Amino acid sequence: MEPAPVVELAGDARAAAVARGEEELHAGRVAALLVAGGQGSRLGFDGPKGCCPVGPVSDEPLFFFHARKLLARGRRYGRPVPLYVMTSAANDAATRAFFASRAFFGLAEEDVFFFSQGMWPALDPEGRVVLEAPDRVFLSPDGHGGVLAALERSGALADMEARGIASVCYFQVDNPMVDIADPAFVGLHVSEGADWTLKVCRRTGAAEKMGMPVLRGGRTAIVEYTEFSEEDRCALEPDGSLRFAWGSPALHVFSVPFLRREAAAGLPVHLAHKKVPFVDASGALVKPDAPNAYKFEKFVFDALADARKAVCLAFGREEEYAPVKNRDGEKSPAACRADLSRKWARWLRAAGVGVPLGADGRPLRRVEIDPAFADSPAALAARDLAGVDPAGDVLLSDADAPASR
Ligand code: UTP
Repeated sequence: MEPAPVVELAGDARAAAVARGEEELHAGRVAALLVAGGQGSRLGFDGPKGCCPVGPVSDEPLFFFHARKLLARGRRYGRPVPLYVMTSAANDAATRAFFASRAFFGLAEEDVFFFSQGMWPALDPEGRVVLEAPDRVFLSPDGHGGVLAALERSGALADMEARGIASVCYFQVDNPMVDIADPAFVGLHVSEGADWTLKVCRRTGAAEKMGMPVLRGGRTAIVEYTEFSEEDRCALEPDGSLRFAWGSPALHVFSVPFLRREAAAGLPVHLAHKKVPFVDASGALVKPDAPNAYKFEKFVFDALADARKAVCLAFGREEEYAPVKNRDGEKSPAACRADLSRKWARWLRAAGVGVPLGADGRPLRRVEIDPAFADSPAALAARDLAGVDPAGDVLLSDADAPASR
């Protein structure tokens, strides 16, 4: 196992990739794929995770930021970027109702396609199926890897093919900073003729919990941090840098023919030992204090082994990675809001608006930019910002596309 090669796009190479990606977007050959079927157990939010508020000023939820970025892309390129949302039986109805109650955040309803992933039973240590009620088997989502079969089963893949989609940008619900349908990412993918292109960022240190891109038997793979030996996770180059320097935050572009091939692929099954409430022999509901059952999950990155060509693209995590995983502390909603404010303050300062910063470099006020108002530093600089008062909290919304509450 050795580190996978990583492309760092700059200068003319970046400009060429952007131009190629923009061609794809203008031609309507790009779609977005959001996996939102997880249970969000670490966050413990009541409802679909995508409804969790993260807007530093507005309290808008994760779904808002994803949808508004696609709205911006669709307007810029004159063709919609259709959004495919994977839910699970536990949150499908609530997710659909939420999008409808917010008028699809300004997107056309026919460009949003919901589909549900599979559900699997859990087993106790004796191999017996766990019941959640005397007449009901406990079921949980089959992992983000379930997306490959669910796309085909639901008709979503056929819908993509009918629309002439060539590249599908996969992202997770928990990261509101993701640059969805990034032209450079799509452009590199298409010009390389790759089945799969993935963004990777520098790990903050040996302890960061992230999958890592490696070459194994000449093929690109992502190995979960749990499956790395301590020695490999901490290995250093002679200059003191990490040997496995890059991590994968689950930002992918897939080609549609690859998704078609993978629909029938059998992915390996991973075990998770978890606390699962169950009914005992007397029919009483028991809430265990310790893990009591094995859940089964598929991981989407296991399909990388089937990619004929895979490319890793470096990106800056400050701009694009602030996931909401935990209730408090690191990777919490509060940490995400602070990262969003910092990013948008950077954009505003680059556009000439003097948002004041504290000694630690963080903005002293909360800053929020609706992606439909500006989805990049260049788009922001092209806006009239004369009326923005940086002395208070800043909220820049798009008056032309209100997202009804
Ligand atoms: P995570 O592995 O972070 O899981 O999912 P989670 O369910 O959100 O949170 P925990 O681990 O229970 O705290 C990464 C992404 O994959 C999606 C999630 O919705 C999230 O966008 N996912 C995960 C699914 O769509 N289905 C699954 O079965 C599992």
